[in-house]
Amino acid sequence: MENEYILEMRHITKSFPGVTALDDVDLKLRPGEVLALCGENGAGKSTLMKVLAGIYQPDSDKGEIYYQGQRRIFKAPVEAKQAGIIMVFQELSLVMDLSVAENIYLGSLPLKHGRIDWKTLYEDARKVLAEIKCDVDPKTPIGSLPIAQRQMVEIARGIALGAKILILDEPTSSLTDKEKDVFFENIRELKQKGTSVIYISHKMDEIMEISDRAMVLRDGKASGDFATANTTIDEIIQCMIGRSISNYYIKNKAQPGEELLRVEGLCREGQYEDISFSVRRGEIVGLYGLVGAGRTEIVESLFGITRPSRGDIYYKGKKIQIRNSVQAVRHKMAFVPENRKEQGLVLGETCRKNISLVKLPWIKKGGFVDTAKTFEIYEEYRHKLKINAASSEQLTAQLSGGNQQKIVLGKWLAIQPDLLILDEPTRGIDIGAKADIHRFISQLAEEGMAVILISSEMPEIIGVSNRLLCIRDGRICAQLSGEDINEQRIINAIMNQPEDRSNPAAS
Ligand SMILES: Nc1ncnc2c1ncn2[C@@H]1O[C@H](COP(=O)(O)OP(=O)(O)OP(=O)(O)O)[C@@H](O)[C@H]1O
Ligand SMILES: [Mg+2]
Repeated sequence: MENEYILEMRHITKSFPGVTALDDVDLKLRPGEVLALCGENGAGKSTLMKVLAGIYQPDSDKGEIYYQGQRRIFKAPVEAKQAGIIMVFQELSLVMDLSVAENIYLGSLPLKHGRIDWKTLYEDARKVLAEIKCDVDPKTPIGSLPIAQRQMVEIARGIALGAKILILDEPTSSLTDKEKDVFFENIRELKQKGTSVIYISHKMDEIMEISDRAMVLRDGKASGDFATANTTIDEIIQCMIGRSISNYYIKNKAQPGEELLRVEGLCREGQYEDISFSVRRGEIVGLYGLVGAGRTEIVESLFGITRPSRGDIYYKGKKIQIRNSVQAVRHKMAFVPENRKEQGLVLGETCRKNISLVKLPWIKKGGFVDTAKTFEIYEEYRHKLKINAASSEQLTAQLSGGNQQKIVLGKWLAIQPDLLILDEPTRGIDIGAKADIHRFISQLAEEGMAVILISSEMPEIIGVSNRLLCIRDGRICAQLSGEDINEQRIINAIMNQPEDRSNPAAS
């Protein structure tokens, strides 16, 4: 009889110095099945998938992998890849300087007379991209695309390589709802063709929507296995973190204080136009819009990373011009960027050094860094953000994705900013920790901080913002507050045809 499973992993154990990341874990997967892998930050999800993809070896011979009925040992990623096991990494692994097409076919570029056959390359790439309804030009350099589209390209790569098992490690972390729908359509089609998908995500509603089965890891052990149709989000969360979360979002109740920031008529050609708004102390102002609407570009200008071509910025009652991020930090502004690997972390440095990095100018003694202070900062934010690291001296490269994100957040909070700008701050953070972080940010606002929050997650932006600016095509298309911050109003604002008559280009 043919085996019901395409894959069986048995007794997988994997330790790193100081941690047992996986402890005797079993996993089974059927052809055409979508298996969700759930668990808190650091539970071992990525590690388990890296063992499957040949990046790590299990610790002992007891750990076995059966694939298509045969015992297999994947000693290197290329062996797993050739067998049809393709992993799309949590931290994207694209080469920024190369084009979309080159990235898709990296390692298997079509050749003609010993040279790259560009025509075939672009044609093939266009075909796979069309298959997943992604309309980027294959010649575009990857580095110039927003993260959401980069994720699509990673998936195209999986298809081009002929995946039998596609492993997606938090693939939708930066997609908006609409992009996610297209993405799920792609997964369903792959499933129809018999491809199995292992899906890691912290978004419980997505797990319920797309998976057939959900397996839970807790502290490196398998702690539950549910048929998705017969379970509830609460049951899975309970299994993940040992408690249920009744109220995910708590709005801050502070009375807004004095105005901290005001922008008037801010423009930057091709990115955003006529942006005017203010943020008061004690206020959390959300920016919502589709990927590419200009949200990140606006806050980058506030922080001095780019210069607006027109318009004024008033901060603490004075008109200011911020030329770079060093000046912004001196003004006690903090900016937690969207992409932690490119902008947020020095991966080869320790957790302690990373988390003290922005605060350094304040903790120098006679020209030298006050080392004792760096330990204090690490301890404070490890505790406040529940950072799960082996020690203060662990390299951040070795932390789980969610814990890396917490280090980035911690290093900015450490300067006790007056203005905190957050761009997708809880990307990759598990549901328990997320609730903690929201509560923490609300508390900081109540203590007088002003917060600008960019998030693609509707529940997050609705749950946390006191006021919400909807951004479309680089413009503010609606301002909502109080009861008006709800899904319907937001969708109307984002999707509807422009009501704005002052923009002749729109008609
Ligand atoms: N290369 C490594 N060296 C040392 N420790 C590691 C390494 N990779 C992972 N770990 C540790 O193994 C544990 C499991 O990490 P893993 O990345 O598998 O978690 P995860 O479930 O994917 O979490 P997240 O949701 O945050 O991505 C963590 O404690 C992590 O710090
Ligand atoms: Mg992970």
